[in-house]
Amino acid sequence: MRYPDLRLTDMILPDSLRSRLHRVLGEQRQQASLREHGLVPRRKLLLVGPPGSGKTMTASALAGELHLPLFTIVLDGLITKFMGETAGKLRLVFDAMQATRGVYFFDEFDAIGARRGERQDVGEIRRVLNSFLQFLEQDDSHSLIIAATNHPELLDRALFRRFDDVIEYAVPDRPIIEALLRARLDRFDTRGLAWNEAISQAERLSQAEITRAADDAAKTIILRGGADHLGSAHRRSEGTPAGFAV
Ligand SMILES: Nc1ncnc2c1ncn2[C@@H]1O[C@H](COP(=O)(O)OP(=O)(O)OP(=O)(O)O)[C@@H](O)[C@H]1O
Ligand SMILES: [Mg+2]
Repeated sequence: MRYPDLRLTDMILPDSLRSRLHRVLGEQRQQASLREHGLVPRRKLLLVGPPGSGKTMTASALAGELHLPLFTIVLDGLITKFMGETAGKLRLVFDAMQATRGVYFFDEFDAIGARRGERQDVGEIRRVLNSFLQFLEQDDSHSLIIAATNHPELLDRALFRRFDDVIEYAVPDRPIIEALLRARLDRFDTRGLAWNEAISQAERLSQAEITRAADDAAKTIILRGGADHLGSAHRRSEGTPAGFAV
C-alpha cells in the first residue's frame, strides 16, 4: 500500500481521455452530494490498452488526486491450486475495500489469460474471473476499483458490463509524442533538436518507451557536462526504444 503523489497533470493524455478521468475525479470528490440524491459515483473502472500506455500510471494519479491509498492486487498471484482458497483471498480483498477506502488496482488481468495455454486450465481461470465478477457486482463500498488489461479479447463480455466505465488507451499519435518529449526535455536546451524527425522516429513506440528514450537523451546531455543541444533521433539497431542522438 502506498500514497502516490502523482497527479493527472503529470500525464500526457488526449483530451477525450483526460476529460473522462476528470469526470471520475469530479464524481468521487462530490460523492456526498451525489449520494444525497440517490446517485452513485463512478467507481469501477476498466482500463484497456497496449503495454506502456499509462494504465498503471493512471491508477497512481487517481489515488494521488484523491489522496487515497493505492493497493495493487495481481490476480494471478491470488490463484492457488484450490478454488476455495482463491475465492477466500478475493473475499479478503473485497472486505478490505469496505473497511478502508482506497484505490484498489487489479493489475495484469491478462496474466491470467496468458496462463490459459500454459496450463490448459480454462475452467479454473473462468472460475476465478467469475468469482471476481460476483464480488465486483456485489461491492457497494466507497473505494475505487480499477482493473487493467492489454488483452481485452481474453475477457468475457459479461465482465465489461460490470464496470461503470471502460477507458481505452492507445499508442500515442504525433501531438502526444511531441508533448511526451517536451515534458521530459523542457529543462534542456532543445533548440537543435529536429523535432519532426524525432517524432517520426518515435512513432509506434509506447508512451513508456518514448519517456525512456527522452530520459536517456537528457542523461547524455548531463553526462556531457551541460552540452546543451539535442540532435536528431535515431532508433537503435536492436529495435528497442530509440535513443536520441545528442
Ligand atoms: N500518458 C502518459 N504520460 C506520461 N508518461 C507516461 C504516460 N504513459 C506512460 N508513461 C510513462 O511510461 C511508464 C509506464 O507506464 P505504465 O506503467 O502506466 O503503463 P501500463 O499501461 O500500465 O503498461 P502495462 O500494460 O505494461 O502494465 C510510466 O511510469 C511513465 O513514465
Ligand atoms: Mg501497468
